[in-house]
Amino acid sequence: MGGFTITLVDVNSPVKLNNGVEIPCVGYGTFRTEPVATAAAVKAALQAGYRHIDTASLYKNEAGVGQAIKESGLAREDLFVTSKLWTSDWGYENVKQAFQASLDRLGLDYLDLYLIHWPANEKQFGADAAKINVETWRAFEELYQEGKVRAIGLSNFMPHHVKKLLETATIKPMVDQIEIHPGWTHEAEIKELQVMDIVVEAWGPLGGQGATVLTNPVMQEIATAHGKTTAQVSLRWILQQGVVPLPKSVHANRIKQNMEIFDFELTDEEMAKIFALKDLGGQCKDPDEVIFNY
Ligand code: A2P
Repeated sequence: MGGFTITLVDVNSPVKLNNGVEIPCVGYGTFRTEPVATAAAVKAALQAGYRHIDTASLYKNEAGVGQAIKESGLAREDLFVTSKLWTSDWGYENVKQAFQASLDRLGLDYLDLYLIHWPANEKQFGADAAKINVETWRAFEELYQEGKVRAIGLSNFMPHHVKKLLETATIKPMVDQIEIHPGWTHEAEIKELQVMDIVVEAWGPLGGQGATVLTNPVMQEIATAHGKTTAQVSLRWILQQGVVPLPKSVHANRIKQNMEIFDFELTDEEMAKIFALKDLGGQCKDPDEVIFNY
């Protein structure tokens, strides 16, 4: 099973991937962290105790992440660093160069996890979509076999994309990172991926900019009952599904607050109330509909 039921005690409680590599159960997200603000934000996160940092070449902030890592003085093996291949580098040819460019910007000589940021879809590529994903994955498998990355995976792949990939893959993806927050739950997809022994990560776990997850009255009521914030309730709801949340904040108090989610438990009834929430904003992109030309 790709989910986890072990007792989690803090953000660095380890979750085992299907290749045996351990990933800290909460990661620090950097989506939409301004490049100039990134080094300070990641430094604050490392100082607060996060050891799992999630970035992507799209975010244009890998250099800031790398600077923070370097200046933190932490040992490389104590960190778990993820980056992602952008859509402009889909296919076999560009992957290794794009991977090396990410490493160079980060100032690292290996990654802990490398993800295909989005699947190529039929709307954009017709019958070639599956072939593009297969070719991209073949390069990922080679990077893994060459020992340049400790785990490889996907992002924004729905179970049907994953199943298609598994028809030809020689290595099963270890992770799939998808948008998950109250109002955009992916309940069935999470279960299906976990049955495939793939660990699910949640991007945008607070709904992201402009969402109403954190001000929703049901979320507020549950938060008050536990003496917690709505952000903490959202993150706890994700963890209790056996999913790794990746909260982003550039503020030290929120960075710390988002770690304090191990001293309370949501009841089944509260979980169900959150699952029932609808239309709270977020990006909510359908991976089969979105077209990328950048
Ligand atoms: P900021 O970086 O200014 O703190 P997500 O992780 O879903 O992408 O959401 C991140 C958004 O939520 C950002 O706009 C972030 O803003 C804000 N945020 C992060 N943590 C908290 C928190 N504990 N309370 C309120 N807002 C938060």
